[in-house]
Amino acid sequence: MKEIRDKNIWITGASSGVGRALVELLVSRNNFVIVSSRARDKLLELQKTSPSRIRVLDCDVGNDEDMARAKIALAELTDQLDFVIACAGTCEYDDDLRLDSASYRRVFDANFFGVVNTLRLALPHLMRAASPAQRPVFAAVGSLSSLVGFPRAEAYGASKAALGYFLDSVRADTTRVPLRIVHIRPGFVDTPLTSSNDFSMPLLMSPERAAERILAGLEAGHSQIDFPRRLSWPLRFLGCFRGLWFRFFAPKITRIYKLRFH
Ligand SMILES: NC(=O)c1ccc[n+]([C@@H]2O[C@H](COP(=O)([O-])OP(=O)(O)OC[C@H]3O[C@@H](n4cnc5c(N)ncnc54)[C@H](OP(=O)(O)O)[C@@H]3O)[C@@H](O)[C@H]2O)c1
Repeated sequence: MKEIRDKNIWITGASSGVGRALVELLVSRNNFVIVSSRARDKLLELQKTSPSRIRVLDCDVGNDEDMARAKIALAELTDQLDFVIACAGTCEYDDDLRLDSASYRRVFDANFFGVVNTLRLALPHLMRAASPAQRPVFAAVGSLSSLVGFPRAEAYGASKAALGYFLDSVRADTTRVPLRIVHIRPGFVDTPLTSSNDFSMPLLMSPERAAERILAGLEAGHSQIDFPRRLSWPLRFLGCFRGLWFRFFAPKITRIYKLRFH
């Protein structure tokens, strides 16, 4: 596929981190970008960087009622979309195996149901862009962490693993339809999401670099975009030989030596 230019694109999670870096890169290539997150003020600031190319659609992707309102607002902004990148996401660690269902629900609302809601709103617009020459793209950002069971990541990793299955299933259901489903799995990226992580993050990359990797993968026509390779390959290997992970790696990184009951 050639360079992504002059397209209609919707990006969720656009107010910071990877999503914002994607917006900046895509706008610099003459694309028209609709930016979403809950923070309208941050989106309006972002719009000031390129008023003619950026439109604001603030919404909470995990909230069904808010997404009903966003559906109407999206239709007022555009009738067709060439690319949708569902980047909105959140992370809450389960530090002490508390199994607090409210925390798990918050994480699943943003990371899993947020993508379901985004796809529901986007589908009619994507299908309007489809032609024999063009397959519109729905891409969602998961995480390499879903390849193996990381300690403390019960909620986050499970939401991203569920997202992977969801995308595979949608891909299966759209094999006869002109729609490309893309699963993006970054490693560690230096963003507000990871800024309070108190553990070492190997191969940490900037959001700008992550955005470049995502765009390169989209332009190359990949349906799975995993990076950096030096992290994705070992994790894929350990995902296949799970015994090694639980025997040699997990015991070194779990912080739980004794279970407490809450
Ligand atoms: N950073 C990493 O190391 C890393 C690694 C792998 C995968 N990822 C994934 O990459 C994506 C982007 O994360 P990031 O690192 O760039 O984090 P970030 O800087 O915290 O960005 C998260 C974005 O999602 C938005 N968001 C969160 N909940 C939302 C909701 N319910 N509705 C609408 N927007 C919501 C936030 O905006 P508002 O707060 O304004 O709503 C923000 O724009 C996430 O899906 C994350 O899981 C990140």
